[in-house]
Amino acid sequence: MKAQLEEMQRSALDEIQAVSSLRDLDECRVKWLGRKGALTDILRGVSSAPVEERPALGKAANELKIALTEALDGRREALESTEQARDAEENRVDFSLPGRRPRRGHAHLISQVSEEIIGIFAELGFKVAWGPDIETEYYNFDSLNTPAEHPARDSHDTFFVRPGVVLRTHTSPVQMRVMESVKPPVAIVAPGRVYRVDWDASHSPMFYQLEGLLVDEGVTFADLKGTIAHFLRRFFGKDCKPRFRPHFFPFTEPSAEVDMTCTVCNGSGCRLCKHSGWIEILGCGMVHPNVFRNAKYDYERYTGFAFGFGIDRIGLLRHSINTIHHLYENDLRFLEQF
Ligand code: PHE
Repeated sequence: MKAQLEEMQRSALDEIQAVSSLRDLDECRVKWLGRKGALTDILRGVSSAPVEERPALGKAANELKIALTEALDGRREALESTEQARDAEENRVDFSLPGRRPRRGHAHLISQVSEEIIGIFAELGFKVAWGPDIETEYYNFDSLNTPAEHPARDSHDTFFVRPGVVLRTHTSPVQMRVMESVKPPVAIVAPGRVYRVDWDASHSPMFYQLEGLLVDEGVTFADLKGTIAHFLRRFFGKDCKPRFRPHFFPFTEPSAEVDMTCTVCNGSGCRLCKHSGWIEILGCGMVHPNVFRNAKYDYERYTGFAFGFGIDRIGLLRHSINTIHHLYENDLRFLEQF
């Protein structure tokens, strides 16, 4: 019996050492120490041995049990630590690797430019106002002293949504909407999309304008000139000179177009300015009394000036780009440069 126990201990220990996974180790434990295991058989056999041998046998069997239990526990610990190590290696996270940066966008050139322009006018006390892209003929034309027979109302220039409703051809209708809702003094700029049936290298059927309107007692053309000159110098640099040319707009009187010294040649003449040294940049004038009348403003008491220009155009000039369509094709190779 003693020899049998020794033999059993040897083979059990060999087997335990050979086990290579926690699952096999559990099976091994059941085989040797389980209720129907080998050792339980032996312990049962102790009671049928001769009385004088029983204590020694029982002791030996117990020692075997302890030895196997220790061996199993030791093996378990060893297996657990190697399995943990393997797991850690397989699911390893290297915290020192640089993170994958999400691609970061930035404001479109037009947004950048309009924010900058709005900022310059905000410094002067102008507030921002908005109007709808889909506008009535009344706000787009009639209220702005533009009678039905005016060439600008010809359907070749204007997108009609339905009779009486158009895609606004300029931001000037915002002037009227603002004046209808607030009393003077008024100082607003109104950026937004405008639409015209027009498409070539320098025209897009949709583009951006910024409207300005200032109304108060005693506003003069000198205020208009000063404001425009200040804006151009702030935006294009202090060497930028404005030139006012008489012009016609139905909603301003007198009216002017403003040119500025060419951003490319600085006035000496180049392709961009068609060798004139000047670039046409904006329309403006003193608000026409009929416009004040339509807005129910007292045109004896108040005067005001208005101006409007293309935000796209100003952005293109700043970067000496010649085709407006680059702005709307959403080619990142172009847009990423700004
Ligand atoms: N609305 C005019 C245009 O689109 C510009 C303008 C605005 C002129 C305000 C005078 C006063 O051409």
